[in-house]
Amino acid sequence: MDFGMKNRLSRIIKPKTGKTVMLAVDHGYFQGPTSGLRNLKDTVTPLVSLADCLFITRGMVRNCIDPRSDVPICLRVSGGPSILGELSNEDIITSLEEAIRLNVAGVGMSIFVGAKNEDRTISNLGRLINEAERYGMPVLAVTAVGKEMGRDTRYLGLACRIAAEIGAHFVKTYYCEDFYRVVEGCPVPVVMAGGKKIPEKDALQMTFNAINEGASGVDMGRNIFQSDNPVGMIKAIKAVVHKGASVDEAFEIYSKK
Ligand code: R5P
Repeated sequence: MDFGMKNRLSRIIKPKTGKTVMLAVDHGYFQGPTSGLRNLKDTVTPLVSLADCLFITRGMVRNCIDPRSDVPICLRVSGGPSILGELSNEDIITSLEEAIRLNVAGVGMSIFVGAKNEDRTISNLGRLINEAERYGMPVLAVTAVGKEMGRDTRYLGLACRIAAEIGAHFVKTYYCEDFYRVVEGCPVPVVMAGGKKIPEKDALQMTFNAINEGASGVDMGRNIFQSDNPVGMIKAIKAVVHKGASVDEAFEIYSKK
C-alpha cells in the first residue's frame, strides 16, 4: 500500500485504536428523505465533530457539510435505483475526479451478492478499485443491502470475502450470529452497519459483540440519528469501539442528556 492510500485510510480507521466510528448518512440516495434525515444538515451538524468519518453522497456533502469542517468523508459513489425499483441495478455514478475534488478520504459502493445484478455490481467494484488504486483512494465495499438472502454468517462471509478478493480496502456488512467467522474469512477490515433502529441498549450490545468478534468499528446510521439522543448515542458507540466500554457503561453515556 502506498503513502496516499495508507494516509487516507488512517484518516478513517484511527491508528491509535485501529478502529473507526463512521456515521452513515447516505440512505437518501435510494430512500429519499428518510426518517431522521429529512433535514440532513440539522441532523448531522451536532454529530460532525464526534464522528470519525461521514459516509455520505456528493450532493449532501456539497449542500449540508461545512467545507471548513475537518471530518473525513467516505463518499458513496454508487447509485441508480430508488427503493421502488430493483436495488441491485446500481452503477458507479460519481467519478473519482469528483471524489478527489471533494478531498475525500475514501469512496464506497454496494455489491449485491446473490441478487439480480450481482455480476455487474461486482465487476463495477473491480473497475472502481482499478481506478482508485491509481490515486491512492481506499474503497469501501458495502455488502448485503436488500432482502435477497438471509443475513447469516455463510452469506455475509461469502459477500465480504468476495469484496476482499476483488480488492476492496475495507468492507461493511451487517452483524450476525458467529460474526467472528465473517471477520476470520475476510483479510481486510470489516465495519458493521447498524441496520434498522433497535432499542439503544440492544444496538450497544450488538456493537460490543461485533468489536469483540473482530470488527474494525462501525458505519452506523439509523441507530444513531434516529435515537432520541443522537449525540449521547454516538458518544456511547465511540466508548465501546475505541475504549472497550461495557454495554452498561456505554448506556450510561447515552442516557446523559
Ligand atoms: C445502506 O445502503 C447504507 O449504505 C447505509 O449506510 C448502511 O446501511 C448503514 O446504515 P444503517 O446503520 O442505518 O444500516
